[in-house]
Amino acid sequence: MKLEKEYVENAKKNAALEAVKNVKNGFVIGLGSGSTVAYAAEELGKRIKTEKLHVLAVPTSHQSFMLSVKNGIPTTTFEENPTLDLTIDGADQIDEKLNLIKGMGGALTREKIVAAASKKLIIIADERKAVKTLGENKQAVPIEVVPFATQFVIRKIATFGGKPKIREGSGKVGPVITDNGNFLIDADFGLIRNPAELEKKLKAVPGVVETGLFVGMTDTVYLGTREGVKKIERKE
Ligand code: A5P
Repeated sequence: MKLEKEYVENAKKNAALEAVKNVKNGFVIGLGSGSTVAYAAEELGKRIKTEKLHVLAVPTSHQSFMLSVKNGIPTTTFEENPTLDLTIDGADQIDEKLNLIKGMGGALTREKIVAAASKKLIIIADERKAVKTLGENKQAVPIEVVPFATQFVIRKIATFGGKPKIREGSGKVGPVITDNGNFLIDADFGLIRNPAELEKKLKAVPGVVETGLFVGMTDTVYLGTREGVKKIERKE
């Protein structure tokens, strides 16, 4: 499906606007990372200003912290607020069961921690992100690793049938360094028919900090499409 840039940006924005309607006065929210979340931060900033909403956000990356500051969203720490009412985040792929691949923005570890601590996880995306099976279109799974363990983890991933690649920076030579001081490996596993099993195997490898597979965590997806925003709830 070839979708022009303007349409995609509108689809992302519309999905974000719908998601932000779920934020209520007094909420402590997790704020994800990425270009779709940027629209949510903008909208939330507007609501805080016009409706005098009291909302605190736990940002999931330096980017999301900067978005909060720019849009006048007061931030808090996970230390002060370890239980969150809601998290709004983007995704790189969403399957039919609302399992996700996340982390192309490199913020997967904090995103997963915050999602796990939230009463509700809302994902916002345009329709290009929706797939039948995770791993379609050669979408790799981002994996955050302790730098010391990189080559060990790479070899393990290969034994699981994955094609691992260290993520290289742009604007800097060498590997991307995450907000937690680690490296990222992007591993193509082909079609991932059992994401829960793959997640379990990867998490058992010493040196793996976190994976971009978010299995059974999403409650609701707002998907921006040509026909408007589709709200998809997870079926139990
Ligand atoms: C950040 O690490 C990711 O998990 C993002 O949520 C994901 O890459 C989506 O980003 P966009 O909204 O920019 O596509």
